[in-house]
Amino acid sequence: MLTQNDNELICKTGPSTPMGDYLRRFWIPALCSDEIAEPDSPPVRVKILNEELVAFRDTNGDVGLIDNYCPHRRASMFFGRNEECGLRCVYHGWKFDTNGDCVDMPSEPAESNFKDKVKITAYPARDWGGFIWAYMGPAELQPDLPEVGWAMVPDSHRKVSRRLQENNYVQGIEGGIDSSHVSFLHAGLTPYQRDHPEARPVRNGVMQPTAMIGDSAPRFVVQDTNYGFVYGANRDAENDEYYWRITPFMMPFFTIIPGSIGNADDLTYSGHGWIPADDENCWMFTYSWNASRPLNKGENHPASDLELEPRTMRATINRDNDYGIDREMQRNVNYTGIANGSVQDAGIQEGMGAICDRTKEHLGTSDSAIINLRRVYLRGAREIMEGGEPFTPEKGSDYRLRSVSLLQDREISFNDTVPFVLNKSR
Ligand code: FES
Ligand SMILES: [Fe+2]
Repeated sequence: MLTQNDNELICKTGPSTPMGDYLRRFWIPALCSDEIAEPDSPPVRVKILNEELVAFRDTNGDVGLIDNYCPHRRASMFFGRNEECGLRCVYHGWKFDTNGDCVDMPSEPAESNFKDKVKITAYPARDWGGFIWAYMGPAELQPDLPEVGWAMVPDSHRKVSRRLQENNYVQGIEGGIDSSHVSFLHAGLTPYQRDHPEARPVRNGVMQPTAMIGDSAPRFVVQDTNYGFVYGANRDAENDEYYWRITPFMMPFFTIIPGSIGNADDLTYSGHGWIPADDENCWMFTYSWNASRPLNKGENHPASDLELEPRTMRATINRDNDYGIDREMQRNVNYTGIANGSVQDAGIQEGMGAICDRTKEHLGTSDSAIINLRRVYLRGAREIMEGGEPFTPEKGSDYRLRSVSLLQDREISFNDTVPFVLNKSR
């Protein structure tokens, strides 16, 4: 559990909040590159860290990320005309470039130099790994772009997406690093068991989703690292081996889901980052990539295939329709009665309320990664409050990571296993 004060400290990310200032020390995904695919294409509304912004790609292909509100009389720049290396406000024609400089002010006399005195807030923005990233912190502290695996491969080797979730971002991240829920929330029958009722696992006369029969209480290890922290879970396997799933958490938002057991360079990885839109909504960014070949159709994370409402960017299966829960399916096919794994996660995370009341929780040993996340966040936010410099990774290359699933002898310790995770993905 957390105190009410600490809960608010990590969940509130607007300008001048401690956690908001901490997150502004990092490059942050703001939207997907293909949302502003072409030079001079229509501008797009973006809300991150409680700031309303507009993204556009100018005639040269450079990306601008500027305040939604025109500094003249606060008209929305979303309505702007994207023309000749700048976005022009349609109310009185003031035009701004990607740096936020006012480059034309046709409503003032030609001899006026007023335009040289006016700027619109503009954040540095980079097109990197299929996302447009924003840096919203102090200019002198701007870090390297993170060399995350999906940014280090050609476009054809990755797929990315974003969608809105109606809950605070910390709930999303806590779901992403919560290994133990996979055995329950996402449990279901194998295709064979679906077709053959006699092969379904039965306990006390009641059908059990498959994963419930195995080792549902793995042991967890967490360690701080130069990029955030790494956490591992081991489950008993045959032949005196453990089945390990080891995952890096990359500050400040990013997870990589451990894939199947196999040669790391051939595997396709996926993960998510949850970025605050405001305190009660977040953007779930999803990325899938393969280091050595183009992605095949359907190989990406299913979250990237969900149908979205065009304006809100929520999934069409959402809380308004109870995530399509089917009680018959819940009795006979899977644990939740909700068809899509990503929707299962969204239902649980949104169902906690917009900001989870962490004063009322009871955390167990399976929550050790979540406890560590809060410790790292609280430490950073408190350092900001005290005027110190919080932890951030030193170099972009600190993010060259992947996750690992492997079987190995029970004698081999976590410390001897973790270096697998530290191998760069490319
Ligand atoms: S409000 Fe934008 S130009 Fe007047
Ligand atoms: Fe999940």
